Amino acid sequence: MSEVSQSRNQPKHIAIIMDGNGRWAKKRFLPRFAGHQQGFKALRKVVSHCSQIGVQALTVFAFSTENWKRPQDEVNKLMGLFLTALQKEVKKLDENNVQLRIVGDCSAFSQQIQEHIKIAEDMTANNTGLVLNVAANYGGRADIVNAVQKWQADNPEKNISELDEEAISEHLFLADLPAPDLLIRTGGEQRISNFLIWQMAYTELYFTDVLWPQFSEVELDRAIGSYGMRERRFGQTSEQVEQC
Ligand code: FPP
Repeated sequence: MSEVSQSRNQPKHIAIIMDGNGRWAKKRFLPRFAGHQQGFKALRKVVSHCSQIGVQALTVFAFSTENWKRPQDEVNKLMGLFLTALQKEVKKLDENNVQLRIVGDCSAFSQQIQEHIKIAEDMTANNTGLVLNVAANYGGRADIVNAVQKWQADNPEKNISELDEEAISEHLFLADLPAPDLLIRTGGEQRISNFLIWQMAYTELYFTDVLWPQFSEVELDRAIGSYGMRERRFGQTSEQVEQC
């Protein structure tokens, strides 16, 4: 995982916390699930746009480890949407050369969802375009704990003092991708919510009041434009960055 990224440029890896589906629906006197359905449509547009403009990776937070605490009916409907998406969208993703990966503890999902995750991932595994990571039953802290455990299992002969940052990075879910350059969070809240917390050490943050179902290609370009104006120093001085 490399933190070196071009400044004043297009982000290679964008992460998104898609927040505000419920409020979008409430404003329209619709059930919360209508917000998730509309949110899914927004996600389709964003995936297509990222693919077209040559973004290398897009990682979206679809379902956190804490989201199981939502009302059972909402959880069931979100699972239904997830399954339908896996069944119906994967062919189109494949045609667009998108590689789909589900990031998180998939063992908590139904057998049927797990089967379709495998089918979708296998079908798109060799695609060379946008890598679309859908974080589902994902938590950043658990990702780090799992990484340490995997490292220990891979290196039983090593002492814990040999565990370093690189070793942890190499055992995270997104080990083979650069860290996100840009995090977008919609819906007006300004927090990370246990999303990719290890990888986001130097990520540029962009918060917008726009509710996720209303997020569009124009909004994405606005976020990328804001990113392009920033100077990424990674702890160095502005002069050092200019010299590079
Ligand atoms: C947060 O909005 C959104 C979610 C927890 C679910 C995100 C799901 C989608 C965008 C659609 C489904 C995606 C896939 C990949 C199938 P919220 O419900 O917390 O909104 P609120 O803060 O306004 O209540």
